Amino acid sequence: MTDTTSVIEIRDLHKSYGKLEVLKGVDIIAKRGDVVSLIGSSGSGKSTLLRCANLLEDSQQGDVLFCDEPVSWKGSGQNRRPADKAQITRIRTNLSMVFQQFNLWAHMTILENVMEAPVTVLGRDKAEVETAARAYLDKVGIGDKCDVYPAMLSGGQQQRAAIARALCMEPKALLFDEPTSALDPELEQEVVKVIKDLAAEGRTMIIVTHDMRLAADVSDHVVFLHQGRIEEEGTPSNLFGAPKTERLQQFLSATQPG
Ligand SMILES: Nc1ncnc2c1ncn2[C@@H]1O[C@H](COP(=O)(O)OP(=O)(O)OP(=O)(O)O)[C@@H](O)[C@H]1O
Ligand SMILES: [Mg+2]
Repeated sequence: MTDTTSVIEIRDLHKSYGKLEVLKGVDIIAKRGDVVSLIGSSGSGKSTLLRCANLLEDSQQGDVLFCDEPVSWKGSGQNRRPADKAQITRIRTNLSMVFQQFNLWAHMTILENVMEAPVTVLGRDKAEVETAARAYLDKVGIGDKCDVYPAMLSGGQQQRAAIARALCMEPKALLFDEPTSALDPELEQEVVKVIKDLAAEGRTMIIVTHDMRLAADVSDHVVFLHQGRIEEEGTPSNLFGAPKTERLQQFLSATQPG
């Protein structure tokens, strides 16, 4: 990758829920076009880290940078909050999240779901957004489902609709939180294919996943979190082929079949 602009950067981030210290000084960087996977046991802080990256959660110490622009804070420690509302909106609208449970609006058609945020949050022209939304739904293979409601789709189709919705924001990066964990294996593959296509297009992505095959196939960089710290990180071939720490070795032997 010749482009060295960082889209998301987190430096020495600390986050607690009351007395529970969940992130204990984490650094992570996704440059433009990078695919970074976050792996680790349940409770290691993966979802918390993603939510801190797009400012859905407050953090107490450390920096979050979006396109090299540091978040400005007011207050400190437990009282620290982002200071600049316009900056929060800029960051959130540029980092689209895809969740395990899809989170589609049940009372809206698939097309309406995809159009909602670009029209209401970004104030974009409705006809233009509709054209883009239809194109993104085609791209994820469900262009024929525009007029149905989420409950009428399979889990894999709903997740692909959620990915189209994220793409329609034209974000600078996509953040996935276990996008395939709620799916049966065959539906999972439909979603994996879409994520692989996005990686091949050079999209910047941070993917939290329990699917080691997916992490190995799409990532430029893999980060193993353990109890709120980065225990080990590197290229997929280093991490999966030659794990150095005992904790990662144990984690991989527990998650990899055979
Ligand atoms: N809103 C909250 N209030 C209090 N504690 C929380 C909250 N959200 C998460 N935690 C705690 O923070 C820790 C990290 O949670 P997190 O959801 O980030 O883990 P995770 O790595 O995403 O796990 P999983 O693989 O199960 O999704 C856990 O101990 C969890 O119980
Ligand atoms: Mg999680």
